[in-house]
Amino acid sequence: MDNPSNTLIREQLAASSARSAPEALAHDDTFWTRVAAEFAKPADFVHLEYGFYHPVCRAVFEAEVAAMRQSQICAAHYKRNEMRADYEAARAELAQLVGAAPEEVAITRNASESMNIIIRGIPLAPGDEVVGAELDYGSMVEAWEQRVRQEGIALRAVELPFDPRSDDEIVQCFAAAITPRTRVLYITHLVHFTGHLLPVRRLCQLGRERGLLVVVDAAHSFAQVPFTPAEIDCDFLGASLHKWLAAPLGLGMLYVRRDRIAGLHPLFGDARLPAGDIRRLEHFGNRPDSAHIGLREAIRWHGAMGGAAVKRARLLALQRRWMEAARALPRLRLLTPRDPARHGSLGTFAVDGLAPAAVAERLMREHRIYVNVIQGPRVAGVRVTPGLATTFAEIDQLVAALEALNRTP
Ligand SMILES: Cc1ncc(COP(=O)(O)O)c(C=O)c1O
Repeated sequence: MDNPSNTLIREQLAASSARSAPEALAHDDTFWTRVAAEFAKPADFVHLEYGFYHPVCRAVFEAEVAAMRQSQICAAHYKRNEMRADYEAARAELAQLVGAAPEEVAITRNASESMNIIIRGIPLAPGDEVVGAELDYGSMVEAWEQRVRQEGIALRAVELPFDPRSDDEIVQCFAAAITPRTRVLYITHLVHFTGHLLPVRRLCQLGRERGLLVVVDAAHSFAQVPFTPAEIDCDFLGASLHKWLAAPLGLGMLYVRRDRIAGLHPLFGDARLPAGDIRRLEHFGNRPDSAHIGLREAIRWHGAMGGAAVKRARLLALQRRWMEAARALPRLRLLTPRDPARHGSLGTFAVDGLAPAAVAERLMREHRIYVNVIQGPRVAGVRVTPGLATTFAEIDQLVAALEALNRTP
């Protein structure tokens, strides 16, 4: 049952977002104050670590809680009689958002699960190579490394430039690593260490030209950057839904191009379904129904906020405000590309003479600002990730704190 006041607010937001171009809306304080009112925020610190997951808005939370309560009342009766129809409705709405057929989309529990289904499921022979990047997400690299150990495949990780100047520069890094034994091109669309946004269309095209299977980790890019798997032309894609779609925690998406479904070995056993049916890949066992019910509500709110185009413009505007100020501070070094077209809503910096953990600790203790410590290949810094409810005033608080750190490291 829809709460009429939630529906009214959603419709008002949808009317406003339909009237303005994303770049103009990104700076419209009235619109974002109304959006922020729909999200709960901590009372005693400024939260700038929305890269882990994004909290849901009030209406999604209410839908989730109602479904959770109902699942404890009707229990098995719901699971056996109604769950399938609700689940298929959620799949259809998600597929529509993704620009794919429902037959190509599975709802998983997170991006890690989606990526493991892909990484562990692609048929490869000993000696076959996978080309990825050293800034790929750690547990996804570990999933590939299991196949290195168990099956003797090889993994080649390219070094990405910290401040790429052109798409060609990045495409060249990957192209140079491809050999006659390469079978898979593995692309992290938006890098969690640094916020690099890779030219995914060009990279998929490279994979096609070389006859490779193309896998995209879109954990952070999905619903933050406008694209569809079909238009970038990949074979497999995994995404988080609890990040920038702001869907309930515990949701991911798996996209497999129709003609690739039959060739993927299922990670979870299911021998009953036809080989070309994606449902064969999603036999996860019991899970909370509140997630897929909340997902449908989250998709509606995503649309009302103007979808990925508006989120991209808003999050970039928030990021640019502090990153431009930070570049002027001599003790701060940004590890995120300078060109706004080459980074997403995550930005990472280091302070000369201070360990990243000490920077994060001081930001919290002295300024009540919560950020994340990042440690990866050639990367040690502090990551700042604003969210949909973040205000420019909060970003200005961060800038003041960075100026203080610059004065007294
Ligand atoms: C690039 C990348 N892949 C995968 C994941 C895992 O996401 P999830 O929490 O949905 O499993 C993350 C999480 O931050 C990520 O940044």
